[in-house]
Amino acid sequence: MNKQTHWDTIYQNKSPNEVSWYQEKPVISLELIKSVALKPEDFLIDVGAGASTLCDYLLAQGYRHLTVLDLSANALAYSRQRLGDKASLIDWQLADITQFLPSQRYHFWHDRAVFHFLIDASEREQYKQVLNASIDAGGYVMIAAFSIGGAKKCSGLDVVQYDAEKLAAELGEQFVFVTERFETHQTPAGNEQAFGYFLFRCLK
Ligand SMILES: C[S@@+](CC[C@H](N)C(=O)[O-])C[C@H]1O[C@@H](n2cnc3c(N)ncnc32)[C@H](O)[C@@H]1O
Repeated sequence: MNKQTHWDTIYQNKSPNEVSWYQEKPVISLELIKSVALKPEDFLIDVGAGASTLCDYLLAQGYRHLTVLDLSANALAYSRQRLGDKASLIDWQLADITQFLPSQRYHFWHDRAVFHFLIDASEREQYKQVLNASIDAGGYVMIAAFSIGGAKKCSGLDVVQYDAEKLAAELGEQFVFVTERFETHQTPAGNEQAFGYFLFRCLK
């Protein structure tokens, strides 16, 4: 099964609040976005957004340039439906992030639980090329991943676990570590997942 079919099938068989990564409100992501004091006109992208409500909160906070990207059309359809009329305010991108061709630079790149699925070094290299082509000088990158020692799989797929040091080494020296947060995520099925959220700033 290819990746797109894998993710589309998950979103076909489960509603957004049944998937293990579901959050009613992405509190830590919102806190980290707030911490960097963006302007309402700044460009933000949520890569591998799934059916996350992050975009709902960011729209409500007045951000006007939001891109929501995912590999699964089913996931994006949930968010479009949930947002109703407000869906037209979002730039929706049905794409594999490792193949994405950005049409502008972003001030904030948000990735919760996507980069950690990239098991092969070649895929991570492609992701980093897209990131480098997408991020504005002085822009911020937040990547949330399973913590070292935590879960080794998500939705049946292997993941790479990260801490700040390992992620910094992956991203390269143009990305400077800013801060980190840790979360014990409660899945809808009642399990716990240890997440780390890592914020970097692009110096180039
Ligand atoms: C674990 S879910 C996290 C969803 C969302 N970020 C959240 O925190 O609720 C991973 C998401 O990444 C998407 N995804 C996986 N690989 C991807 C890729 N290469 N490009 C774009 N999206 C991808 C999946 O479709 C899925 O929606």
